[in-house]
Amino acid sequence: MKITRILITAAMLAACPPVGAATAPLAWQNKALSADARADLLVSVMTIDEKLVLVTSYYGTQVDRNRYRHPDARRQSAGFVPGVPRLHFTPQWQTDAGSGVATQGIAVPDLQRTALPAGILTAATWNPDLAVKGGAMIGAEARASGFNTMLAGGVNLLREPGNGRNFEYGGEDPLLAGTMVGAIVRGIQSNHIITTVKHFALNDQERRRTTVNILVDEPSARMSDLLAFQIAIEQGNPGAIMCSYNLVNGEWACQNPWLLNKVLKGDWGYKGFVMSDWGAMHDTVKDALGGLDQEAGVQEPKDYVYRDKLKAAIADGRVPIAVLDDKVRRIARVLIASGAADNPPTADNPIDFAAHAAISQADAEEGIVLLKNEGPILPLAGSARRIAIIGGHADVGVLTGGGSAQVYPRGGSAVQGEGPKHWPGPIVYAPSSPLKALQTERPGAKIDWADGSNLSAAAATARNADVAIVFVTQWTAESLDFPLTLPDDQDALIDAVARANPNTIVVLQTGGPVLMPWIDRVKGAVEAWYPGSNGGKAIARILTGKVNPSGHLPATFGRAATDWPRAEIDGLQRGKDEIFDVRFTEGAAVGYKWFDKNGTRPLFPFGHGLSYTSFAPSGLKAGAKGRTIQASFSVRNTGRVAGKQVAQIYVSPVKGGWEAPKRLGGFAKLALAPGQSKSATVTVDPRLLGMWDSRNPGWTVAAGQYRVTLATSATDPGSSVVVTLPASHWPAGRGVAK
Ligand code: BGC
Repeated sequence: MKITRILITAAMLAACPPVGAATAPLAWQNKALSADARADLLVSVMTIDEKLVLVTSYYGTQVDRNRYRHPDARRQSAGFVPGVPRLHFTPQWQTDAGSGVATQGIAVPDLQRTALPAGILTAATWNPDLAVKGGAMIGAEARASGFNTMLAGGVNLLREPGNGRNFEYGGEDPLLAGTMVGAIVRGIQSNHIITTVKHFALNDQERRRTTVNILVDEPSARMSDLLAFQIAIEQGNPGAIMCSYNLVNGEWACQNPWLLNKVLKGDWGYKGFVMSDWGAMHDTVKDALGGLDQEAGVQEPKDYVYRDKLKAAIADGRVPIAVLDDKVRRIARVLIASGAADNPPTADNPIDFAAHAAISQADAEEGIVLLKNEGPILPLAGSARRIAIIGGHADVGVLTGGGSAQVYPRGGSAVQGEGPKHWPGPIVYAPSSPLKALQTERPGAKIDWADGSNLSAAAATARNADVAIVFVTQWTAESLDFPLTLPDDQDALIDAVARANPNTIVVLQTGGPVLMPWIDRVKGAVEAWYPGSNGGKAIARILTGKVNPSGHLPATFGRAATDWPRAEIDGLQRGKDEIFDVRFTEGAAVGYKWFDKNGTRPLFPFGHGLSYTSFAPSGLKAGAKGRTIQASFSVRNTGRVAGKQVAQIYVSPVKGGWEAPKRLGGFAKLALAPGQSKSATVTVDPRLLGMWDSRNPGWTVAAGQYRVTLATSATDPGSSVVVTLPASHWPAGRGVAK
């Protein structure tokens, strides 16, 4: 009865739309209805021109004179979709990205925001609860800054160690990356805004990203990159998915019906909308029919494929109106369901920067990884009265990653004039000095500083100290890929310092794996990634033992570029418009799986991370639970300080047959006081026990024996038990994770 009345009202509205803005609530605004019903009502009263408004997002920043900026976009933002004032439907204000509210183009002093550490650092925490908090923080800043859409949630797998965007993503394993990015998404969306999981899909290199054609067979894609997306979507329920620039098996990702219609919306039952990466749309009809809902990055007067072009395609029957309705309904539904439509954000609201910096710091303190600790040299002993700090601008700040994800941190960049003059440069350092933080932590110590530009000066500074800490950096950024060797001869700097002082520690700030030819000559190594707004404090607190490190690598660190499937990323020599193939011959054997398969010993394995205490795992039990595996175990802190251990469960078929010997099947991060023991139970997602089956689409788990290993990294033999499973088949779709 109620529904009928609403529908009648809706029909009346459609027949005679009011002039000017309506005052009484419209039928679709009835909060007692479901988001689906409200979206249906909204679409039913929209004119075609109003519908067309929702499917085009304009560029939000005028980077140069040739570029258009929608006048209603928030300043220096990524994108803007006008609303429908007649129907009181909200505009969409869109901002990057994973480390917080980014500023497009040049820095603007009043658009400085809190920088969460890089996505890869958050993945290195292996702590989804912390990731939710970080996501909630950046989402709150997005809303307070006037945005209802974030472009955060990068989950492309770290297949290419030199990919310039690895810092934005969640590492090399589908379960870990999907779980951690899904958690960030949950946090962001807790602010009545939506976010977008990206870049869908197989956009694992930056070089020539708009012309690279990724060739991969379906089972390999389903068991690697697509699985990471599937898990992130299941766990995060993102409002949008951003399709990527590249081609997949000969078709652009944003007009790829297999990726968008079949896998995402069909098999996975995804109900949100697909937005293009900025300018990644190509063809009105192919995009519209291929599954792209919203084109983005439109710069007047060209470069768009929807608007009047889509209207014409609908008018002459090339695109059914139902296709446009579906796109609009998807967009409207998620904005309604998230609360974004009922609570449009306003700009310039106050932000509690101190509280947010503390959240950023907590993330950094759990994601920084202690790689090596001989002696142990760390935490810094009280006897280390004289400390040499060398290089990496450690006197003033910590590194951030570049490109559209660039957050201009509070206080502005601590370093000027480095890196490319134009986007994705310049290089930005968050003004959080590790040196000053160390001085605060160790007021009695004498700290000497050398900037590292002169090797003999650096060696002289190191020689006089009890301990020498070399800070090395590798800036990485969107649109670029990078060699695995540290730039600017920093390997030589480490060598010079290590020769001068046997107590040398290296603190790395990199976006992913780098080679460490000097590792045997230093006593300690710490991977700090890009540690965010309070990164200097986090590093100092780890070095001094105020915080016990508990980060674990979300990616394998190899010894040589040839350890990975492609020692060189293709694209550098390619013409701008030349489409070229990159074949993923490794299939689903990404990261540690590739190393395992080839018997290659990594420098530091996936999952590796040291602590200032020691842990003893015990009591591994595993058995069939339903048609999957459940494992339980205990971990005791056997040392003298509190710490957190990441217990990892790996699974492998006793008799071969997978893309690689083993897969991460689950994990648990346990906080333990000295002497304390805790137990945990992990249920293995059956997709991690099966193979994608193209003949009977879905996941087929073979009957047989499976080894379940409790370990602390991908190369730790740990302890194992064997479980026998019956054959089973699992549907392609969502919901099997739980
Ligand atoms: C990037 C996206 C980003 C968009 C908007 C593109 O260049 O690939 O990740 O969200 O720009 O800034």
